[in-house]
Formats: sequence, structure tokens, C-alpha cells
Amino acid sequence: MPGLTAPSDYSQEPPRHPALLINSTAPFNAEPHRSDLISSYVTPADFFYKRNHGPIPIVDDIERYSVSVTGLIGNPKELYMKDIWKLPKYTVTATLQCAGNRRTAMSKTLKVKGVGWDISAIGNAVWGGAKLADVLELIGINKPSQITPSGGKHVEFISIDKCKEENGGPYKASIPLSQATNPEADVLLAYEMNGEPLNRDHGYPLRVIVPGVIGARSVKWLDSINILAEECQGFFMQRDYKMFPPSVNWDNINWSTRRPQMDFPVQSAICSLEDVNVVKPGKITIKGYAVSGGGRGIERVDVSVDGGKTWMEASRFQKAGVPYTSDDASSDKWAWVVFKVEADIPMSAEIVAKAVDTAANVQPEDVEVIWNLRGILNTSWHRVHVRVGHSSM
Ligand code: MTE
Repeated sequence: MPGLTAPSDYSQEPPRHPALLINSTAPFNAEPHRSDLISSYVTPADFFYKRNHGPIPIVDDIERYSVSVTGLIGNPKELYMKDIWKLPKYTVTATLQCAGNRRTAMSKTLKVKGVGWDISAIGNAVWGGAKLADVLELIGINKPSQITPSGGKHVEFISIDKCKEENGGPYKASIPLSQATNPEADVLLAYEMNGEPLNRDHGYPLRVIVPGVIGARSVKWLDSINILAEECQGFFMQRDYKMFPPSVNWDNINWSTRRPQMDFPVQSAICSLEDVNVVKPGKITIKGYAVSGGGRGIERVDVSVDGGKTWMEASRFQKAGVPYTSDDASSDKWAWVVFKVEADIPMSAEIVAKAVDTAANVQPEDVEVIWNLRGILNTSWHRVHVRVGHSSM
């Protein structure tokens, strides 16, 4: 009996929390209500978005489960869970965000292709596992390395799930060897999420976590690692998850002109209010998340209650009672911040949030300027409308 198998249909899917908003059932893609998202800094696994491209794999026998390491290295090797567990365990608090987060809103400008997501294809978890840099050292690759003696420059992660985009083959992606072997990049082979073994939806028994990078590169249900001279040629690296300019459409697209998207840009969204609300006159709480890619902290979150004419600065926090400083060693550099403002809403208003990261990158005002045919990386100012009335929702 093999250790890990991939069903070809959806009859053996795991149980899921009934409160999730389902965007597609097969494959299962779902996100929490926005208000559930910011009820805690660390997102419980039940309320963490689930992004799949095929049926969820099954572990038949954890003792037999192994990851094959092959490619441009001296000797190929099989790594069992006991080998991974023996390595030093690290916990990294990191926000995972699907590149398609906020895609539904991008389609309002002009329809884009892909699963629709509101603002909750994002979550923040404490991932536990071995550093990829330590795993690669086991097979003789030094840390840090730009290239292996046989010319390896990229680390490919191959799963086992059956994806229609890969013609029934597995999901795969790669990252540069320099990132994989850099202990500071905190790339993990994770076996725990929030102190518990990963659950099936999130990659049990082992997944990759690439902090600061779009979720698509954090391959779940890891089956093999391949050291390559070029980046992975799989569908999700070469024909998806690339950022095109607004001028590119399905008639003139040339996939090879763009690089696979890696880091995500600065992002924020208001979670305490729905898109249209009726509130009582007086103070309201405007609360949400802000995050940037590449380990850049959040320098500022600006909130407006008049559609962006005037602004106030929100407070930011990660852990209760600990002030957040964007570039301080005590802050979780790969994680979101929760932001909060109390504001008087005298009349109907458009409430807006925009975040600024430590490199002073700021979210674009309008979605039109970043519209792209696959609807990725909608990081435009997040807006909700509030109508002052006598009943509140
Ligand atoms: N890994 C495998 N094997 N199959 C997948 O479909 N989806 C990717 C990534 N890893 C995927 C995968 C995408 S697009 C995202 S955003 C994240 O997993 C989502 O991880 P989550 O479901 O744990 O939130």
C-alpha cells in the first residue's frame, strides 16, 4: 500500500465547517465570512480559506509516506516523516494569500477568468515544520547556495493530486534555489498548522510554506522535490498566476513574456463591514487586515470615511498588548496586521482602506489600472458603503 494516494473523484473529501462560503464544490474552494476572518490574529484551520485544484489526497500509511528528492544532485534520496521530524522544528507565523483574493471585485470592471473570491482568500497561521534549507542540506546542498555543482538553480515541489489543468497530473511549482537554501527566507516543509498536524485540506501530511509569496507556490501534499536548472514548467507556473497588463486579452496573450508571480504586493481590506451596510448614527468600528509580501512590514493603514477625500491613521496590532512596529524583531515579519479605527459616521459614506508597507509601496486607488485577464492581485483600495439608518445589520 503506498503512503499517499490521490483519488480521481470527489467521493472521499474531508468534512468542512458549515459556515464557509463555497465558491466551487469540486474542486473545493471556500473562504470564511469576512467578519470571522478578523476575530483572531491567528486564523483557526476551520476558517482558513481552502484552495484546491483536484480531489484531496489520502494518507494510507504514514510510515510508508516519503518524499523523493531527485534531479541535479549527487544522490537521489527518499525522505520519510521520521527524517523530517528529526530536523530542528521551527514555527513561522505567516499569512498565506491566494493570488485570486478579491477577484470577484475585479470582474466588475470587465469579466476575468477564474474562481471568484471575495476578500477572504487569505489567512494567518502558525506553521510548524523543518526548514527547507535544512532538508536540502541533508542531501548535500550547502546553505546558502545559488547553484548546485551539477547546475541546479531551482527547487521544484511536486504533489500527487490530480488536476485537470495538468491533464490529470499533479500540482507543481518551484522557487529559486537561493531562496530555498536561505534560512532567513523561512521556507518550511510544514507538518503542523496552529500546533496541530495539518488537516487534509491544508496538505496533510507535509506541505511547503513559502512566506511572503502568493499561495500558489506553497505546494500541498508533497510527493517529490526536484532540483532543476530552469524553473518548473508546470501549468501553474507558466500558464497561470502571471500578472499581465490591462492591454492583454485572450486573443493577444503570450504567456512566455511574463515571469511567474512570486512575492505579493501590499494589500488590505475592511472585514468588520459588508459591502453595503445600514448602521445607526454614531461611532462605528472599521477593522480589517493589512499585509505585504517579501517580509515587508506594514508601515501605515489609512482609513477614510468620505471616499478618500480625508484620511485618518488606523492602529495596527498583531499580538494583544504588544505594540506593533513594522521592522522590529518582535514583529512577525511574514504575517498580517489587524488594523482598527473608530469613526463617527454622520451620514451615508464610502469607507476606504489603503495600506503602506515598509518600502512605502501603497495600494493603487482604482482596480482598472491593475485589471488583468486572470484577475490576480486585486490590491486596489478596499471600499465599503455605509448607509446611516435606524435599523442596523
Ligand atoms: N498544492 C496542491 N498540491 N494543489 C493545489 O491545488 N493550491 C495552491 C497552493 N498549493 C494547491 C496547492 C494555491 S493556488 C493556494 S492559494 C494555496 O495552496 C492554498 O492553500 P490552502 O488551501 O491551505 O489555503
